[in-house]
Amino acid sequence: MTAQETYKRTLAFELADKLAAGKELSDDELACVLLCDQPGFGDYLAEKARAVREQYYGKDVYMRGLIEFTNICKNNCYYCGIRSGNAKAERYRLSEEQILSCCDAGYELGFRTFVLQGGEDPHYTDDAIVSVVRAIKERHPDCAVTLSIGELEKESYQKFFDAGADRYLLRHETADKEHYEMLHPAEMSFDHRMQCLRDLKEIGYQVGCGMMVGSPYQTTEHLVKDLRFLQEFRPEMVGIGPFIPHHDTPFADREAGTVDMTIRLLSMIRLLLPDVLLPATTALGTIDPMGREKGILAGANVVMPNLSPSDVRGKYLLYDNKICTGDEAAECIRCMAMRISSVGYEAAVARGDHVSFRMQ
Ligand code: 5AD
Ligand code: FES
Repeated sequence: MTAQETYKRTLAFELADKLAAGKELSDDELACVLLCDQPGFGDYLAEKARAVREQYYGKDVYMRGLIEFTNICKNNCYYCGIRSGNAKAERYRLSEEQILSCCDAGYELGFRTFVLQGGEDPHYTDDAIVSVVRAIKERHPDCAVTLSIGELEKESYQKFFDAGADRYLLRHETADKEHYEMLHPAEMSFDHRMQCLRDLKEIGYQVGCGMMVGSPYQTTEHLVKDLRFLQEFRPEMVGIGPFIPHHDTPFADREAGTVDMTIRLLSMIRLLLPDVLLPATTALGTIDPMGREKGILAGANVVMPNLSPSDVRGKYLLYDNKICTGDEAAECIRCMAMRISSVGYEAAVARGDHVSFRMQ
């Protein structure tokens, strides 16, 4: 190694130490950590991230039961397979009864959080969502309910919260307005999305945001901006995953995000927000068969196995080659628990609230 190479290497590892010590990094330094290709650097960062996660959450990995209850969506995001413009998507909706029976089955399997995720489907009125949230909380008062149903007005969010919803996931997708506009049609508004996130927080939800990694037009500067946004907004949860093209979307021919960049970001997010709930996502498991294990080893502490009924699973296709579309919930959970223990962690049966929301 030349003296200059040694210097470069030392500098990068020092930045990782600085990040792990909770010290403020400049934008350039964050970019440096994102881009550093020194051998062993990613592992070094992951090790630091693991140490921090274990301080807050030990070896627990929280399991969330994901119920994809509608793939009908009024939006037309350029990246998403269930966009309204995709006439080829086979659409479905689950009834309240079907959703409740997924929860009952999930409860038996040990889940204590249910995530109701769907497209922005106007068929489900505020009252319909309130009714299903109430029913879940009545049947399973020891469970948390997470909603992930997109952008709505504050009054609606408030109604769901009053009905008992605990958490809300709404990825910001990108913290850069211009970039946002390259990923979404003109009817969608970056400012409204950000307003939704602020509303959710004000109401008192545990809030999750997040971005796709390697989405079209994304630059390192955008990712730095995402990290700054996370630092400032301080969400309780952050969901990130690689962008993966879907063949019936305008981004069909774009390149997918990488597993390495995604896990690098997972580690950085863990270090920037030490107590955050951070899932190893299905998209990460889709681009790499060991993606979720790698995610856990990089600081992730949540997984979200699919609880949707088998006959609709293959229809909730945001991107190509999605994993777990052919498995029964029970198989999926068993497989997940095995994957978690294979890397030295434990699948936890608990609500898994953010540390700042834990009931005494
Ligand atoms: N690749 C990866 N993630 C996607 N999402 C939507 N489409 C894709 C895709 N093609 C993500 C978005 C959305 C979440 C539910 O799924 O970030 O918020
Ligand atoms: Fe679903 Fe492995 S997690 S089959």
